[in-house]
Amino acid sequence: MNLDALIELQDIRVRFPAKYNWLGKPKGYVNALNGLDLNIMRGETLGIVGESGCGKSTLAQLLMGLQKPSSGQLLRARSDGSWFGSGMQMVFQDPQSSLDPRLPVWRIITEPVYVQKHNSVSERRQLAEGLAEQVGIRKEYLDRLPHEFSGGQRQRISIARALSSEPDIIVLDEPTSALDISVQAQILNLLVELQRQRNLTYVLISHNVSVVRHMSSRVAVMYLGQIVELGPAEKVLTHPQHPYTRLLLDSVPQAGRSLEEGQEDKKGELPSNRNLPQGCFFRERCPFAGDGCHMPQDLRVNLSGAAVRCHRVS
Ligand SMILES: Nc1ncnc2c1ncn2[C@@H]1O[C@H](COP(=O)(O)OP(=O)(O)O)[C@@H](O)[C@H]1O
Ligand SMILES: [Mg+2]
Repeated sequence: MNLDALIELQDIRVRFPAKYNWLGKPKGYVNALNGLDLNIMRGETLGIVGESGCGKSTLAQLLMGLQKPSSGQLLRARSDGSWFGSGMQMVFQDPQSSLDPRLPVWRIITEPVYVQKHNSVSERRQLAEGLAEQVGIRKEYLDRLPHEFSGGQRQRISIARALSSEPDIIVLDEPTSALDISVQAQILNLLVELQRQRNLTYVLISHNVSVVRHMSSRVAVMYLGQIVELGPAEKVLTHPQHPYTRLLLDSVPQAGRSLEEGQEDKKGELPSNRNLPQGCFFRERCPFAGDGCHMPQDLRVNLSGAAVRCHRVS
């Protein structure tokens, strides 16, 4: 295992049964992840981008241990002699539905700690007060219920909750997509500041290029359950090399625009992940498809330092 990696994924595949026959045996599968190789390095922010349905949330679930790989290996680094597994927390897109509406905020914030250890009420209360201060929630409000807060404040509460068990990695799945534009930047800046203070590692899933650019040190571009391009954020986002990454970025002329808006006409449909294409997964949509594209493509590091899954790029 790579020494600086916290997690290493090796040829991970995840598939879900799609249909069952009358004997209860699967008739077909949804292939969500199709050979994912990825290291997550300590202290980095790894941005994950790709269209809806390409497997981003399945990857998040896998990292959280909520989803088992159908094949492949997921290796976790040892931290101080023990396998760390509780060292992962997640912040979801919609703080409305991810916070228990019946619990006062101080209990929500300390839920991960409550599950892990036997802490007294006063210890947890104190922890909640410290975290509330760090994320910008007044401690006088800790006995309130989630619905008494704005969307941005609720996301601050989600972040405090993710921090409470001092995780090594926080998976952020579209953390600002449900928020007003004016609030998005405040939450992103809070995340950056917390990362600096606590040496956190983030996996940031977003379809918003400017969010990913603002936050990430490295970027992975996903297509049909595979990584098609991986490298330093500056490189991948300003000099994309895979034809899919180029298409994705071409369709994002203005800052702040989503990857998924108004580009259907240009890119066509995402091929079905029930019957995976032969050869290069992107071949059918690729403007440069030709000889050699009928063979499966490897993710290869080239001279620029980025890894690209296309034989035409060297
Ligand atoms: N629990 C599940 N059962 C069946 N299919 C699923 C399940 N979770 C995800 N999928 C399918 O796997 C594919 C990838 O989904 P997902 O990881 O949610 O993509 P993304 O987050 O990039 O939009 C999609 O085709 C989706 O319908
Ligand atoms: Mg998703």
